[in-house]
Amino acid sequence: MNKTMLSLAAGLMLAGASMTGTAMAQDYPTKPVTVVVPFSAGGPTDTVARLVAEVMSDDLGQQVVIQNVGGAGGTLGAGQVAVAPNDGYTLLLHHIGMSTAPTLYRSLPYDPATDFAPIGLITSVPMTLVARKDFEPSTLPELVAYIKANGENVTYAHAGIGSASQLCGMLLMNALDTQMTTVPYQGSGPAMTDIIGGQIDMICDQTTNTTSQIQAGEVKAYGVTTLTRLGNLPDLPTTKEGGLDLEIGVWHGLYAPAGTDAAIISRLEAALQKALTDETVVSRFAELGTLPVTAEEATPAALTQTLASQTELWRAVIEAAGVYAD
Ligand code: MLT
Repeated sequence: MNKTMLSLAAGLMLAGASMTGTAMAQDYPTKPVTVVVPFSAGGPTDTVARLVAEVMSDDLGQQVVIQNVGGAGGTLGAGQVAVAPNDGYTLLLHHIGMSTAPTLYRSLPYDPATDFAPIGLITSVPMTLVARKDFEPSTLPELVAYIKANGENVTYAHAGIGSASQLCGMLLMNALDTQMTTVPYQGSGPAMTDIIGGQIDMICDQTTNTTSQIQAGEVKAYGVTTLTRLGNLPDLPTTKEGGLDLEIGVWHGLYAPAGTDAAIISRLEAALQKALTDETVVSRFAELGTLPVTAEEATPAALTQTLASQTELWRAVIEAAGVYAD
């Protein structure tokens, strides 16, 4: 076969491949799409994922299935998606943990900045300090005094190193210069069960997971980590009002593996935006004290920018605290 025929054949194969890629993107999706949630079922990240997935399924015309892969503060599930085929059928819904893991885990098997194709931001979620309902302190100043006086006799639940609850706990212990006994779980869903059951004293957790427990009196609530009070929990003071310098908000994002076709990313971005303006999602988020992001924020560019700036912010905080997972 002479040179001309060889390059013609190569040209055709390339055209074939890109045409197949583009054709695949045009027909996407042709089968169910899996979204990996790197925490247990029933927790705050799982709740956000299931609400969004339902509307995305309708829009995409294919089932969006949630797969919970808990462990190592969310890095196990994220690591699984980092090496998944970049065909648009395996996605990751993760939170602020994407920005803390690169500093906390010095031998992290993936790079959040390069191993993923961001699709869009999803939420902004306040956190609340809550405890078992028969816990002695009743106000935030009393809780602060109690923790300082009892230190390691106080048990603090979290969802693994790098989780939002662990991060908030680290900031709380730093602010009080007091260590508590920390108890890891695969997600704050099961942690909340043990707090309601009285086995564990307290947690700082996302309103998605605490609002209904607080409203039902299943847990004692001390403060919310935002600068303003929450509309659906008007009696709950902010940590600042309670004299505690502790401010943190959790953001969630949707990702595909790096190299996923741009047309597939745009298709998923459109489906995500549809979900975030859907009445059911908007009203359920509001009930849970969770804020959906704007259309401008539910974009690859906004998620890329947030991930980069938050990674820098938390690198400084974590290095100053000197708390590493490995
Ligand atoms: C979860 O869904 O369990 C959480 O996001 C836990 C956490 O990060 O604290």
